[in-house]
Amino acid sequence: MEQIQTKRIVLGITGGIAAYKSAELTRLLVNQGIQIQVAMTEAACHFITPTTMQALSGKQVFINQWGEHTANHMAHINLSRATDAIIIAPATADFIAKLVHGLADDLLSTLCLARNCPMLVAPAMNRQMWENPATQRNIQQLVADGVTILGPANGTQACGEEGMGRMLEPSELARAVLTFFQPKLLSGVKVLLTAGPTYEAIDAVRGITNRSSGKMGYAIAQAALELGAEVTLISGPTALPCPHGAALMNITSAAEMFELVQKHVTDTDIFISVAAVADYRVAQPSEQKIKKSTGGLTLELLPNPDILGYVSGLPKPPFCVGFAAESHNLYEYAATKRKTKKIPLLAANLVQQAIGADDNELVLFDDAGEHVLPRANKLKLARALLQHIVKLYRRGN
Ligand code: CTP
Repeated sequence: MEQIQTKRIVLGITGGIAAYKSAELTRLLVNQGIQIQVAMTEAACHFITPTTMQALSGKQVFINQWGEHTANHMAHINLSRATDAIIIAPATADFIAKLVHGLADDLLSTLCLARNCPMLVAPAMNRQMWENPATQRNIQQLVADGVTILGPANGTQACGEEGMGRMLEPSELARAVLTFFQPKLLSGVKVLLTAGPTYEAIDAVRGITNRSSGKMGYAIAQAALELGAEVTLISGPTALPCPHGAALMNITSAAEMFELVQKHVTDTDIFISVAAVADYRVAQPSEQKIKKSTGGLTLELLPNPDILGYVSGLPKPPFCVGFAAESHNLYEYAATKRKTKKIPLLAANLVQQAIGADDNELVLFDDAGEHVLPRANKLKLARALLQHIVKLYRRGN
């Protein structure tokens, strides 16, 4: 993560209501160790104050080309040279048009024109403005000029209308920025992931499931995307948003998960089995709600297919990574599990520490022995795990 922590970004804010979200975006990026230099248009100052942005970024905010901040009045050159990327969020339709035509009539547009670094643009506007052929032409031109366009999203707009044009949420933009800066170690590599719990129906309203939140699996999907992988995520029921760029397929039962894994695994380079798959399903789930009676109730359970076992047993298996959640004897059980499953890498954790939590600690088991990934939030841990996977995967290919 060294590369990310030393990055510097100019955050350009233009005059749209989504400017209030730039405050949160700044906070998220600063928390990731990124240095943020804010440059705002005059119009942006009607929506959010430079004081707010200065407090969050810890740096003087630039607005005016003729301001007193720089002795040589060359803020546009100085700022664009001292940055690794420029992100414009929100980018209004007007500012996008300016970028397309190379107009430079204020500090922000001038420094964009003078840049020698990559630029990311997060459009934010009314849906009619977004759909206008002029805006669509402009966006196509920016893409052709090598600018990365982030969003926009669909949804309710500040004006009350519904449709495309909302700026992406700050968390999505922050993730996109982090992804942008990662070395693309898994470019062209297809990663298939299972995540979350499965749900095995007992009747129309009841079922057997477990407490997996899916957080670890989704964090691993995010970390793989950051490295440029093509990610297919087969997920049981969770409350989590799909990591931007992943192909998400929702399933309920282990049987549905197995079916989708069989379908996609033939075109997979790395299979990461994070899902907490139910080991058993109900032999005969009732289509109707079972009414209570005075006596007890016995359910017959049948074993579910071992999905990871199936994949690792294929004649030409992808690089397989398994997970083990243990409540005790972690080292012993995990090492045995890796051998039984015949997989090159297994990540083990203690259920008491992991389930539902935002952070975790992993012990990795591979041919070389054990490696402890110390307690960290699940995204950090996922990135460290991916680095280990890349090392082993590259060695074998
Ligand atoms: N797994 C799977 N299909 C199953 C069960 C588990 O693919 N039907 C995968 C999990 O995603 C995980 C690993 O296998 O990667 C866990 O191994 P397993 O031996 O099934 O673990 P537990 O179910 O925890 O086994 P036990 O209950 O015996 O500890």
